[in-house]
Amino acid sequence: MPIEYLQAFISECYPKAKFMKTNESNQNWFTYYQNSLQGNIVRPHGRDFARLIFFQFDAVRAQDTKKLLSGLARDFITSAGLQKKQSKKWNPKAGHGELFIGLYLTHAAYVFLDQDSPFNSGSVTNGTPSAGLQKDGQVIHCMLLLAHDGKGKLDNHQKYFEDKFADDCGAKKITAEEGNKLIGKSTNPDGSPREYNRDHFGYADGISDPVFFANGKGDHYDATADIKNFIAKEPGTQKYGSFLVYMKLEQDIQRFKDGEAHLRQQLETIGAGDLAANAAAMMIGRTQNGTPVADPSKNSLDNWNDFNYDHPEAAKCPFHAHIRKMNNRQHKSANQDIKILRRGIPYGREEAPEWKLLNPADPQNKKGLLFLSFQQSIEVFNTQLALAEHSEESPGIDPIIGFLNNEFPDDNTRSSRFQHEFPAIRNRNNKPFRFDGFGGFVRLESRVDLFAPSLDFLKNLT
Ligand code: HEM
Repeated sequence: MPIEYLQAFISECYPKAKFMKTNESNQNWFTYYQNSLQGNIVRPHGRDFARLIFFQFDAVRAQDTKKLLSGLARDFITSAGLQKKQSKKWNPKAGHGELFIGLYLTHAAYVFLDQDSPFNSGSVTNGTPSAGLQKDGQVIHCMLLLAHDGKGKLDNHQKYFEDKFADDCGAKKITAEEGNKLIGKSTNPDGSPREYNRDHFGYADGISDPVFFANGKGDHYDATADIKNFIAKEPGTQKYGSFLVYMKLEQDIQRFKDGEAHLRQQLETIGAGDLAANAAAMMIGRTQNGTPVADPSKNSLDNWNDFNYDHPEAAKCPFHAHIRKMNNRQHKSANQDIKILRRGIPYGREEAPEWKLLNPADPQNKKGLLFLSFQQSIEVFNTQLALAEHSEESPGIDPIIGFLNNEFPDDNTRSSRFQHEFPAIRNRNNKPFRFDGFGGFVRLESRVDLFAPSLDFLKNLT
């Protein structure tokens, strides 16, 4: 037996064994489970375009559905191991790379397939899709994720799989979403050009996900985490999967820009004009190019996650900033601080300079985030989301994702519900500066709770 299998076996049996570094034990674990775990969990798929296709299975064709799913697992779904090989081979100059395929099931699918559901063994959730997708009482059973660097190729793949689902087992497409990466451009401290993934508000995103296979230890923060924090053992197979939350989050860019302009003008009025350029960054916690407000010296790609909120400088980052609400970095280690792996992709047309002219009511002009996150349970995700509206450290609702789950603020309630204090900025009476009404720019359109089953589970469906 090769030594790495032995080490993986030992780390499996003795998860608390401390004889190796986290990234080394991850590597051993990966060697053992890479062909059963789906891709996109321990590494993002990285493709420029994605399609999320939601299906309902045909009530009288369970056997055909099982056959389809096991065939997909054998011939198409991208395992974590295959994804690694693909990314090693990937060469941006040699065309568009390969298709990535992920397949995820709701609790309703496990019931339909007459299989033990991971949702039952966890503490929460009935797996019911939320209002946005449950058109006419239709139930979602499955989400297929297709991702590719070539848009045209992805169109063809989408057509192929939609037809295959319909022909092989009568599955009905409920809806499909199109995601596309947005690229931000800036410069590095040495003047060289920097490109990064960004969201529709214009901010670098996907920076703080944990590192699994390298040593992420910096002076102030260790980004290395244990894979086992994000996966769940699957009933029946002794293999691992992960719970996936999908949320379609619509972003109101016009309102965000208006809020930013208003905040900037207020800062100028109280004589804090030097902070005005970073007005909205104080609500996010990072400037547009990803530099943390808590430590502006961490401004290059190799150190932009190496900070915490412990030192006096961190007073520059208000408690209510989105990234501080989501992770107050109190343990200075992703292993304890980070519980979710964000794998989302924006949707909607990239805003042109004349974006103000586009009619936001036109469905074609809607923009937002196809938020995806993997975690050990749905409860873990709900606890994370709840931080937006409560956390011990932080007064003030998360200006980006506050009230996603609760009653969404309208124009009359916005000011009273989003009240933010900036302890480090004093107004003319030497009181902490307060700003009301910055928030409510992101609306929950729909949510579906899923599980990423192992390839073994799918292959063995009979
Ligand atoms: C449209 C909605 C959202 C936008 C525009 C947004 C934007 C951002 C941005 C710009 C960052 C900084 C980049 C980074 O650290 O990776 C960030 C970080 C983060 N966001 Fe969001 N986000 C959204 C929704 C969510 C949701 C729904 C959650 C979870 C419930 C979430 C959790 C996080 C976490 C955990 C971090 C990393 C914090 C850290 O470790 O420092 N975000 N987000």
